[in-house]
Amino acid sequence: MGNVVNFAHRGSSKVCPENTMAAFRKALEQGATGIETDVQLTKDGHMVLIHDETLGRTTDGTGWVKDHTLNELKELDAGSWFHPDFRGERIPHLDELLELVKDTGTIVNLELKNGAVPYEGLEEKVIARVKDDGLSDRVVISSFNHYSLLLCKRLAPEIRTGILYMEGLYEPWAYADTLHADALHAYHVAVLPEFVAAARAAGKAYHPFTVNDPNEMLRLLQAGVDGIITDYPDRLAELLAKEK
Ligand code: G3P
Ligand code: MG
Repeated sequence: MGNVVNFAHRGSSKVCPENTMAAFRKALEQGATGIETDVQLTKDGHMVLIHDETLGRTTDGTGWVKDHTLNELKELDAGSWFHPDFRGERIPHLDELLELVKDTGTIVNLELKNGAVPYEGLEEKVIARVKDDGLSDRVVISSFNHYSLLLCKRLAPEIRTGILYMEGLYEPWAYADTLHADALHAYHVAVLPEFVAAARAAGKAYHPFTVNDPNEMLRLLQAGVDGIITDYPDRLAELLAKEK
């Protein structure tokens, strides 16, 4: 279990506002060895980190991410909705996260949020940035949009991809192979020990999400998963330390 990646979901998102630099820094402090975040494009084509396609839940703005420029989005407060202590947190640009992890061994899981909004050129932009920063071997690109993942593989076979899915997908390791994908980012209830074994035999990694209960973390670790995506990287770090 020593190499299991502890992915902080949107950063340490239960003690900090999700997908902010505060959440990413906190995750690293708490022992995360990976960070999961959601990537979208602004109106003027910049890569920003925010989960929802709209601004209302996690900022003091309204409307769609895609309809605002980077400068407009940078005016918004992305922290106060969570707690007044985080007033002034901003929606990060992807560059800010990559800069934070550059000199660490942190694995970065970039989830392309291109299901509801088919952001033109998102794959090319993300891949160009990852390559420019020399991070190809430390990034896993995931998405619920599997057409997008296939495009990513065509553009950059050396960057790992992970298929996001809920329960009930038949032999996901075989399906993933049709997309040349490297990892299975499965809703955690859909992960059984025999599936993990079959995936491993097929050369596919399992990175289930979003796992917050320590008993469920333990079940998945015992099943042999390669990483876990959690809102509580501190809980997972504690378990991994015990299991060593
Ligand atoms: O990448 C795992 C998880 O983040 C997928 O769902 O909605 O939290 O982005 P969501
Ligand atoms: Mg996500």
